[in-house]
Amino acid sequence: MTRRIVVVGSINMDLVTQAPRFPQPGETLLGDSFVSVPGGKGANQAVAAARLGAEVALVGALGRDAFGDRLHAGLLAEGVDLQHVQRLEQQASGTASITVAAGENQIIVVPAANSRVAPAHVEGAREAFSRADAVLVQMEIPLDTVEATLRLGRRLGVPVILNPAPARPLPAECLALARYVTPNQHELATLLGADPGEDFHALMRQAPGPIVLTRGSEGAWYREEGDPVHQPGFAVEAVDSTGAGDTFNGALAVFLHEGLPAAVRKACAAAALAVTRLGAQQGMPRAQELDAFLAR
Ligand code: RIB
Ligand code: NA
Repeated sequence: MTRRIVVVGSINMDLVTQAPRFPQPGETLLGDSFVSVPGGKGANQAVAAARLGAEVALVGALGRDAFGDRLHAGLLAEGVDLQHVQRLEQQASGTASITVAAGENQIIVVPAANSRVAPAHVEGAREAFSRADAVLVQMEIPLDTVEATLRLGRRLGVPVILNPAPARPLPAECLALARYVTPNQHELATLLGADPGEDFHALMRQAPGPIVLTRGSEGAWYREEGDPVHQPGFAVEAVDSTGAGDTFNGALAVFLHEGLPAAVRKACAAAALAVTRLGAQQGMPRAQELDAFLAR
């Protein structure tokens, strides 16, 4: 049965420079290459879920500029329903300036149009919410919109997966509204107001509800109730980890109905495949490719 997913989140053009290393403040460096590719946590999660066979509706905003046109066309080509993506006049589309060096990245996001995704837009997507199997939301949009998403999901009885990225503090009552919270270690520490250097097991114990903690190449730890369980990562040759977390979340939403252990395993595998190619959306697998990878 086709899964229906709603994603509330950001859409960015990623401006990706590959360099031999990161520059120092004040330093100019010669880079290796530059590409502009579609990104943004919301759009990435929408594409990840759509490639895996889900019917996906995205709630978001774009400027009426050249980046906006390209991003809009790209999402349509991926089969994402853009009925709830607003095109804003006199407003730039979101961008992410990304440097990739030695398999790591540094990112500066300018939200622009994404900062105008309002609680009213979420309310406007109520019908899509009510038909959804799961809702995904991240934190590159205003926090009152994140909260509106969590509340609408709760009211309609639709599970909301909160991917608390990028790291920002969030009111504790918001956390409690999420069906699952999916941070990495740094994001979890920020959510809890704890020291990011603290052991992640200790951090997980402080989290109030069900949690899925992503650990990069080490896979993920998840806890519904009781003790946390480890899902090891899948070994691949990492080229660009940008969007790995988004692929993980998109897959998690699609496979949630199979139960958390199966969903987390598939999400780890999908994320591993995604990091083998440059660009956030580039390596995101289709259902068939994911099945083949898991059957190796
Ligand atoms: O999670 C990766 C995404 O974060 C990138 O695509 C970039 O747009 C930033 O929003
Ligand atoms: Na990639």
